[in-house]
Amino acid sequence: MVTPPLPPLYRAADVNGPLSDEHAARLITTLGPLDGCRVVDVGCGWAEFLLRVLASAPTATGLGIDRGEEAIGHGRANARARGLDERVELVVGDVADWSGTRADVLVNVGSTHVWGGDPVTHTATALGALAGLLQPGGRLLFGECFWLREPTDAELAAMYDNPREQYRSMRGLVDLALSHGFRLRALSQASPAEWDDFENRHAQGWEDWLLENPDSPDADEVRATADRHRAARVDGMREILGMAYLTLIRV
Ligand SMILES: C[S@@+](CC[C@H](N)C(=O)[O-])C[C@H]1O[C@@H](n2cnc3c(N)ncnc32)[C@H](O)[C@@H]1O
Repeated sequence: MVTPPLPPLYRAADVNGPLSDEHAARLITTLGPLDGCRVVDVGCGWAEFLLRVLASAPTATGLGIDRGEEAIGHGRANARARGLDERVELVVGDVADWSGTRADVLVNVGSTHVWGGDPVTHTATALGALAGLLQPGGRLLFGECFWLREPTDAELAAMYDNPREQYRSMRGLVDLALSHGFRLRALSQASPAEWDDFENRHAQGWEDWLLENPDSPDADEVRATADRHRAARVDGMREILGMAYLTLIRV
């Protein structure tokens, strides 16, 4: 924690990932029909996507779980402001401690790590856990990174020394999902513009803080974080990291 605190990302970003409003709306249509459905979002952040699902489906109910207390508080306030609080429960908690519940539709976007374990096995661990929570016919929106192309060692090093094996090609990701008892109903990926928009919102938070707080004892730390992330973005992620959105049906 730095002083004064950095603004929470939700002040600048709608969802905590590279996803435009228009793309989010298209993803919601791939999950339907949603009438009377129970929608569960694990690692929901401030639950913006879940709230949009519920806003689009007046008879659906939702549950969102995230260990971020501030994010869940923000999601609850948004649910109240949009008249959705009667149909959604937002819970502060660790997914590892959650025993599961009936779900017709599951959402796990940008948060496969919530299922724990080694980063190299996050994707498979998540798919196994999610498959176990759905009945045949249940739908899953699975948002996971993939390599746009094979990364070089230098690009991996720039990206916080990401293990190469943590992600796979789009083909490899789809195959992995199918091998866990799913069929693919829809597939899309974040565009470069969606990535830039998301990363710019992060960067602006740091840069604006530095402008406003040049004399903070934490200025060097924030500058180093911003510089490190800019290098990861420009020297690594921007060329090689994709975000896939798979709408999967449990068979
Ligand atoms: C990249 S964010 C994605 C949030 C959201 N799905 C979205 O797209 O806006 C990852 C989220 O996972 C949450 N998280 C990480 N580990 C968790 C765990 N073990 N249990 C619950 N939430 C967790 C973090 O607090 C964070 O909000």
